[in-house]
Parts: sequence; structure tokens; C-alpha cells
Amino acid sequence: MSDSSYSGSHRADEHPDERPGGDPAPARDFTRVSSSRIHTLEGERPYLDVVDLKVHFPTDDGVVRAVDGLSFSIEKGQTIGIVGESGSGKSVTSQAILGLHRGTRAQVSGSIYLDGQELLEIDDEELRRLRGNKMAMIFQDPLSAMHPYYTVGNQIVEGIRVHHSDMSKAAAKSRALDLLARVGIPNPAKRVDQYPHEFSGGMRQRAMIALSLANDPSLLIADEPTTALDVTVQAQILDLMRDLQAEFGSAIIMITHDLGVVAEMADDVLVMYGGKKVEYGPVHEVFYGPQMPYTWGLLSSMPRLDRARRDTLDPVPGNPPSLINIPSGCAFHPRCVYRGEVPGDACVSEIPELIDTGSGHHQVRCHMPQERRLEIFANDIKPRL
Ligand SMILES: Nc1ncnc2c1ncn2[C@@H]1O[C@H](COP(=O)(O)OP(=O)(O)OP(=O)(O)O)[C@@H](O)[C@H]1O
Ligand code: SF4
Ligand SMILES: [Mg+2]
Repeated sequence: MSDSSYSGSHRADEHPDERPGGDPAPARDFTRVSSSRIHTLEGERPYLDVVDLKVHFPTDDGVVRAVDGLSFSIEKGQTIGIVGESGSGKSVTSQAILGLHRGTRAQVSGSIYLDGQELLEIDDEELRRLRGNKMAMIFQDPLSAMHPYYTVGNQIVEGIRVHHSDMSKAAAKSRALDLLARVGIPNPAKRVDQYPHEFSGGMRQRAMIALSLANDPSLLIADEPTTALDVTVQAQILDLMRDLQAEFGSAIIMITHDLGVVAEMADDVLVMYGGKKVEYGPVHEVFYGPQMPYTWGLLSSMPRLDRARRDTLDPVPGNPPSLINIPSGCAFHPRCVYRGEVPGDACVSEIPELIDTGSGHHQVRCHMPQERRLEIFANDIKPRL
């Protein structure tokens, strides 16, 4: 346990990665405290509520603790950005929500509630029904999500008919055409009968979004959806996702290395390190007033287009931690140049709690006293961003 006397801020409750102001699940107050545009009525569970999620993979070398006690929630119409270096557990988190670890050696625990339904407890049949219907995923690589031997249209038609067996093929095809037009694919009447390899990268990504949206999912998980695309197409795809969200009111989880994408798209941002949430809050608050040294590092490593020239980026020094042998105490301590700011050896020996910075919706996992974090950010970090 950390010594909260190190911090001038309020401690979030004892639940790992707890949202501020709540009690441990399931008895907590679910009133949203973040800046998101949507607010849950008191006593209602958020649309997606991930509580103390753990995903561990036993391997010959030891247990990989890919996700280790992660909690977060999203409402419909809200977008949350999940960021962190490679291997921090972002994709494993989304795979767990979609139930993709079922039937594997992965050990998954905690709770994932979607619209009040506990996904870790439902049977495979029910999960299949929800996948594609209530929740869908947009992958980085559309080719891996689309079958090379079927036309794009056929895949969308099948995606629709899996969940609407009573819909005629003709009606499903007409919906497929609508969807292709909706995602900005020119000449859908011709494109619908083409194969994925006949599409360009950007068009294929659009087609996959159409496939994901075939049944108006209320939760859309986008894992690096635009990484492989050039900047112009990336901007178009992001615009498209925003429009579709406005139209369908979906909740979106946007997983990306690109903090610019998060700044543009997300209401809240969740920073992951070593399978844990280390900072969380409204995008403007986390980006303009980050308080965790790791987030400082991530932001410093981001190129800036609005500066005339920035010759060197400042990458976070060192490498991400092994998830088999996660460093003791604060997992970031071997790379943290600020650990001398914390009295004693707490950084090395005690896992910092997630602490509410006092604004009610910004959480940080760091032993450093808050006044000192604010001071370092203002004097050392901000001028360099
Ligand atoms: N099936 C598996 N068995 C063992 N380890 C796994 C498995 N799947 C993922 N991992 C490990 O879990 C950790 C988290 O992986 P994950 O794919 O979530 O990272 P990520 O944050 O999405 O990274 P990236 O930004 O590179 O996509 C990694 O160390 C990865 O090697
Ligand atoms: S807890 Fe210590 S090591 Fe971890 S980020 Fe804060 S100062 Fe650095
Ligand atoms: Mg990933």
C-alpha cells in the first residue's frame, strides 16, 4: 500500500484503478465524474463498465500479467482514448471485452458489464450474439478482419444476416450498399461485388468500418484504426467515425499510439503502463496538465506540427517493462528520473495507488507529492512541450 501522506491529493478508494468518488464495485455510486458529454444517472451502471480486469497468460517463462486490475467506464456517445507504449496491454484489454480470450490459456478475471450484462459470465452463444450486434471492432489491418475469398458485399450481408436471420438477402444487400455509401465509398453498386484486395488501403479500412457497423453496434472498439493510412485518409476516417458516432450514438474505445488522434477524438484518455492505468481524465486536463512522469514522457515524445521546427523528440528513456517480471513498487521506477523527489524508497517498494488529483475526474498513480508534480510540470515539462 502506498503512503498517501506523500500526496496532497485525495486518494481514490481502495478498489484498484477506481474511478474517483466511488465505492468498490458493485455498490458504488455510478454517477459520472468525468468531463464526458454524457452523464449516467445516479445508481445506473455506465454503458460499458470494466471493473478490476485482469488478463494473465501463463507461459513457459512465467505469467505474463498483460492487464492487471484495470477499471474504466464509458457511456454511449462517449469516446475514450487508450494510450501507452507497445506492450502496455491495450489490445489485450479490447480482446478481453470482445471475449476473444475464451477457450485459450488466458486467465481473465474481474468484471466487464455491457449494458448491465456481465460479459465474463454469459455463455459463448450469447457472446456471439453480442459480437457484431452490440459491440464491434475496427482492426488496424482490414485484411486480417476480412475474408479474401468473399466479396465485400457478401461479407457485410452475412454480417447482417447472422443477427437478423429473418432479413431477406436482397434487403441485407440493400443495407450493405447503404453502408458502403455511408462510409464514403464511391460507386458502391460496383464496389459491393468486389473482393477486399481490389480496394485501396483507405477504401478497405472504410469497408471494414462498414462491416463493423453492419448492425449499429453501440460499442465500437478501434485498435489503431488509422495507423497504416496516410494522413489525409486518416483524417477522413476519423471524421467518418465522428459522424457515425453522432448518428448512431455509439460508445468508442480508441486505442492508438497517436496522441494527436486522441486529442482530436476522445473525451477522456486512459494512459496505460505495464498493464495498469497510470493516469486518467478528460483529454484537455490530462494533455494540458499531466501529472504522471510517464505521461510527461509520452507527451514529450510527440511531434508538434504547430512549432516551426523541433529537431529532437524526447523519447521516454529506457524500455517498457517485462510483464513477466514487472518492476517492484511503481513499475515505471527504473525509467523515472523523478523518483528522487519521493522520500524513502517508496517508488521501488510500494505500488502507488490511483489518486484523485482533487478535480474529481483526474486520476494519477504516482508517489510524488502533488504540489511537486505541479511545480515540475510548470517549470520543466510544459516549456518543452
Ligand atoms: N496470447 C498471449 N500470450 C502471451 N502473452 C501475450 C498474449 N497476447 C498478448 N501478450 C502479451 O501481453 C502484453 C500486452 O500486449 P498488447 O497486445 O495488449 O499490447 P499493446 O499495448 O496493444 O501493444 P501495441 O501498442 O504494440 O499494440 C505484451 O507483452 C504481449 O506480448
Ligand atoms: S511513483 Fe516514483 S517512480 Fe513512479 S512515476 Fe512517481 S516519482 Fe516516478
Ligand atoms: Mg495493440
